[in-house]
Amino acid sequence: MDKIVINGGTPLTGTVEISGAKNAALPVLFGTILTADRCVIENVPEILDVDLTLEILEKMGAKVRRDHTTVEIDTRDILPCRSPYELVSRMRGSTYLIGAELGRFKQAKVGMTGGCNFGIRPIDQHVKGFKALGATVDTRGGYVEAFADELVGCEVYFDKVSVGATVNVILASVFAKGTTVLESAAREPHIVDLANFLNACGANITGAGTDTIKIKGVEKLHGCTYAIIPDMIEAGTFMFAAAATGGNVKINNVIPKHLDSISAKLSEMGVYVEELDDAIIVRRDGDMKNINVKTRPYPGFPTDMQPQMTALLCFAKGDSKVIEGVWDNRFRYVEELRKTGAYIDVAGETAIIHGGAAELVGAPMRSVDLRAGAAMVIMGLAVNGRTEIVDIHTIERGYDNIVKKLRGLGADIRKVSF
Ligand code: UD1
Repeated sequence: MDKIVINGGTPLTGTVEISGAKNAALPVLFGTILTADRCVIENVPEILDVDLTLEILEKMGAKVRRDHTTVEIDTRDILPCRSPYELVSRMRGSTYLIGAELGRFKQAKVGMTGGCNFGIRPIDQHVKGFKALGATVDTRGGYVEAFADELVGCEVYFDKVSVGATVNVILASVFAKGTTVLESAAREPHIVDLANFLNACGANITGAGTDTIKIKGVEKLHGCTYAIIPDMIEAGTFMFAAAATGGNVKINNVIPKHLDSISAKLSEMGVYVEELDDAIIVRRDGDMKNINVKTRPYPGFPTDMQPQMTALLCFAKGDSKVIEGVWDNRFRYVEELRKTGAYIDVAGETAIIHGGAAELVGAPMRSVDLRAGAAMVIMGLAVNGRTEIVDIHTIERGYDNIVKKLRGLGADIRKVSF
């Protein structure tokens, strides 16, 4: 087993390159199933969730060749209902197999998926969309099974803005007869990336990035070469690490527009943020001000930056409030952060961070999920003393070479086997 050991207190300085977005790469990789052809996907992050996705696709019959961040994938020989339960159940993103299998084969059987545990993660909105397209769906027995004689374009009004449901229903409707209209669709950049990829393969999708998405059914898709967008959450995590340590970091390969809600909060705290064409500079010299934040679907402040924000606010002066507006149980990590001496109260979906109350020190912590682990890394970098984080596979699920990248910024951080 591995752990991350940090001797904190060093301001981060230098330049870091951001990898491709996890939350775009997974839908696109599963989306290659629809092409029944050879695709070359570039800028794919080297993370455990991608390893697992490719392993699942191979087990289903895909041919995969990977050279660092470029993945060549041929899905011609894929068969439906073949994904191994023990693999898909480890990762939430494998839910996208349902839409992709249903879209291509009109049948799907996929194990109930796992991933980060921050409350109930229902799929009722996914199922609602599949049924509206004409599928019969059964969610009993640990699997989601779906089949249809024919998929027909329809209107789907989502009751809740859901990234997963929007992705899944897009995947399922690409070949449906006629036009499918998704209302109250998620607007995240990774939804746009998936639509751009599918359109590059011959699909006809418009409106991605707005809350109304139209999918005109096409007969077939073909393979293409496509590059994944930069990871806004990885970029945001480095921005917060720079601010928390009082550093000066240039973050390369980003789309600054995607980071607007994150940059705005940093500016509000008094941190210097400069946007360049495809880079962002974050620098902090003085104190940080306390602020309030509520997570919301894009373009709101992302729930996937919530734990990192809580960690950062421990270093601001005064009381800050963080309200979780997406998930019902995403503060489990707070107990770990408190080991540093951080003074954080949690009541329901609200955390009050009493910043600057005492000097915080390094501590042993256990990463409870991907973004929680990132928050612990930020904490460890910013406080004096030694921090050891275990269960780091949760972090490596979604951060590409985080230890190496932070070392490049001058951090005293290393991965140690034990
Ligand atoms: C995705 C991301 C995750 C991120 C989340 C919100 C992946 C693999 N995961 O998760 O990192 O935290 O978006 O940006 O891309 N909901 C329902 N019914 C449904 C589906 C969702 O009620 O059928 C609710 C959920 O309980 C939650 C909210 O909608 O409260 C948002 O969920 P959703 O956007 O679907 O998150 P995921 O796609 O699972």
